[in-house]
Amino acid sequence: MHCKRKICLCALLCGILFVMIATQTMHRTNFLPIAMAALLPVGVAMPAGTPSEVTVELDGVSCGCETCVADLGQSEWFDQHYEPQQQPFLTAQNTSLPALTLKWWMRLQRSTGETVEEVLEKMFQVISSPLPDWPPRQDRCRTCAVVGNSGNLLGSKFGPLINSHTTVIRMNKATTLGFEEDVGNRTTHHILYPESAVDLPPGVHLVLLPFKLRDIQWVVSALTTGEIKSTYMRVKNLVKADKDKVIVVNPTFFKYTHDKWTEHHGRYPSTGMLALIFSLHICDEVSVFGYGADQKGNWHHYWEKNKLSGAFRKTGVHSADFEMQVIKKLAAEGKIKLHTV
Ligand SMILES: *[C@@H]1O[C@H](CO)[C@@H](O)[C@H](O)[C@H]1NC(C)=O
Ligand SMILES: *[C@@H]1O[C@H](CO)[C@@H](O)[C@H](O)[C@H]1NC(C)=O
Repeated sequence: MHCKRKICLCALLCGILFVMIATQTMHRTNFLPIAMAALLPVGVAMPAGTPSEVTVELDGVSCGCETCVADLGQSEWFDQHYEPQQQPFLTAQNTSLPALTLKWWMRLQRSTGETVEEVLEKMFQVISSPLPDWPPRQDRCRTCAVVGNSGNLLGSKFGPLINSHTTVIRMNKATTLGFEEDVGNRTTHHILYPESAVDLPPGVHLVLLPFKLRDIQWVVSALTTGEIKSTYMRVKNLVKADKDKVIVVNPTFFKYTHDKWTEHHGRYPSTGMLALIFSLHICDEVSVFGYGADQKGNWHHYWEKNKLSGAFRKTGVHSADFEMQVIKKLAAEGKIKLHTV
């Protein structure tokens, strides 16, 4: 009995000694804060007084992939632009938009007679409210392919690689028929707005980019009565898409992209830019395909015959050059994989 107590005491002392030595070592290697951060629930700040060089303490979110795009502390530049709390899409639970969003967003359009709240309330009577899918979780790895429409995809043979991602995001008039080898044939999310709308196969998320309130009224109409036939131009009045898979990008998220990522270059961000920043908030790993000019410097869509038709680059509404710089920076900082040929 006596003997056993001595052994216990010895074990206790040894344990304390071990912890002290280990703590010293870990302090030197900065291992301790990482280990502590890993034990903390997401969103809980690290206790004050721990070494500050280890930036996982900012927000120790982590996913099940090798690298997680939302993890802070790897790129100071990224951390200055990325706001993990931004909600990428609207849900029925929160349809009130901050005053600053409204001020900016309503400037992009003519008044419609209905308030934003009225329009959103009607919308959620037609479409299902999407389930929020944040923050990242350690039990899953959401890989996304964001596929732009650049002619540089022609001959790339990226099809199988694009198809291998859990989420495949395409945009505007994107088509895959006849280009499967280069662009793949899977689509999980299709980002569009009234003027660029296409019919979607069953099971694909229609992701509406609302440049104006009228666009939200349009998506309701396009999925039901088809009464809205024009915005500032004639638009497709009926769209084939699953009503319970519609996602509407949050105007506040739109403004965040304009403020923090394109930094007010152009009047508002392009579809490609919004698609990419959207993916940084719904994916854990982001691979980007089909952005930018082709190998000869021409801006055109991969399905277009006329390679010199890329007039959209010179419209001045978006700043293609600045956006390309941001995309290249994201790649250089290891946040996205930019696939070019
Ligand atoms: C994509 O192509 C493969 C191989 O041809 C085919 O099995 C699959 O059904 C296609 N998927 C879609 C969504 O079209
Ligand atoms: C609703 O969303 C906005 C951003 O769109 C956010 O600022 C606000 O805090 C949210 N409100 C609630 C109650 O979650």
